[in-house]
Amino acid sequence: MEDKLEIFLTGAEISKIVARLAKQLRSFYYPEGEGGSLEGASLAAGKGKPPVVISILNGAFVFTADLIRAMAMPVELDFMRVASYGMRDTPAEEVSILMDITAGIKDREVLIVEDIVDRGLTLKAVRERLMREGPADIKVCALLLRRAADHSSISEKESSVDFVGRRIEDGFVVGYGMDFKERYRELPELHILRNSPLIEIKGGGDGA
Ligand code: PRP
Repeated sequence: MEDKLEIFLTGAEISKIVARLAKQLRSFYYPEGEGGSLEGASLAAGKGKPPVVISILNGAFVFTADLIRAMAMPVELDFMRVASYGMRDTPAEEVSILMDITAGIKDREVLIVEDIVDRGLTLKAVRERLMREGPADIKVCALLLRRAADHSSISEKESSVDFVGRRIEDGFVVGYGMDFKERYRELPELHILRNSPLIEIKGGGDGA
């Protein structure tokens, strides 16, 4: 059976969300406002250094690329790759770090960038890992936020998202970096995957 994709957000709608988030982030890291120089933005970011943006691969790579360009202020960029056993449509309890950061983040402002926070498992593991380095602060920006019913083991604090692009109820989302079985990452829009055989078997198809 061929997958049926239904548009969830067009490229233009995503761009508007990214622009809003970028403005919020710039105001947060650069509260002096637009009048100052870009160098001023980095000075405002804490201890004279720009925030370290940590993009969670693979899903967040497209969003991160657009977001940091829209922020238009100095940032340092790093990546983590995290695997949860099972995919977003299956129950998964364990998360392991496949690729760790290389940047030193002690006493630095850190911004975790996620494409979707679903059950919150990935974010919890990433936050725990980063906290061990003693950052000054950790904030989270997610394009999509879903609160799944089964995240009761994760506290609100551990799974909290500071900058939310869009809340989502149900539907398995692909495109704009997000995949289903490694397909559809290249699509410029976000789509809901309607009739994947696997999703139907799992029952619910809510991506959680
Ligand atoms: C997706 C997404 C998040 C994670 C969220 O990644 O990119 O990182 O799931 O799920 P959670 O909140 O339930 O933990 P995935 O494991 O599918 O890997 P990918 O980013 O490489 O596609």
